[in-house]
Amino acid sequence: MRPVAAHEPSPKLLSADALARIEREAAKFPPERRQSAVMAALQIAQLEHGWLRKELIEEVAALLGMPAIAVYEVASFYAMYHLAPVGRHKLTVCTNLPCALSGATAAAAHLRRRLGIGFGETTADGEFTLKEGECLGACGDAPVLLVDNHRMCSFMSDDKVDALIDELKAPAPPAAADR
Ligand code: FES
Repeated sequence: MRPVAAHEPSPKLLSADALARIEREAAKFPPERRQSAVMAALQIAQLEHGWLRKELIEEVAALLGMPAIAVYEVASFYAMYHLAPVGRHKLTVCTNLPCALSGATAAAAHLRRRLGIGFGETTADGEFTLKEGECLGACGDAPVLLVDNHRMCSFMSDDKVDALIDELKAPAPPAAADR
């Protein structure tokens, strides 16, 4: 039987589609282990709302039968979750020692200059949030940059950083016409 949540959040923020997707993730585990889907559920919630406000965390907690504080602990531990609003694009640069010794410090300085913001800040136009990240598992490709949690960019010279920012700022191309 599904554990009873401490309290039901209100109002409900997640769409029916997000609720169904979370339920599918939770169903991958035995009923008494629904909480094992917490990372997937947080990702689904964040994709839908952009960031994880307190009420959203409470809703995920209730869905998985977990204390809200336990869900918050997960959300606050991993850099891929946002506990505050972020820009349209999130740029995470690894500044750990192996990368720092291979140009990451200079790449980070160029990024800060180009965007006019520091780590943990968002540009005034809401386009970019800059984050300092831990090892991204690509130390040999330093400087490395992760875009929106899923696109890895390697060997980021100043020119490549500039090209990336220009590309991300550009409006999305229209859908291809039927041929
Ligand atoms: S230390 Fe930067 S990717 Fe590993």
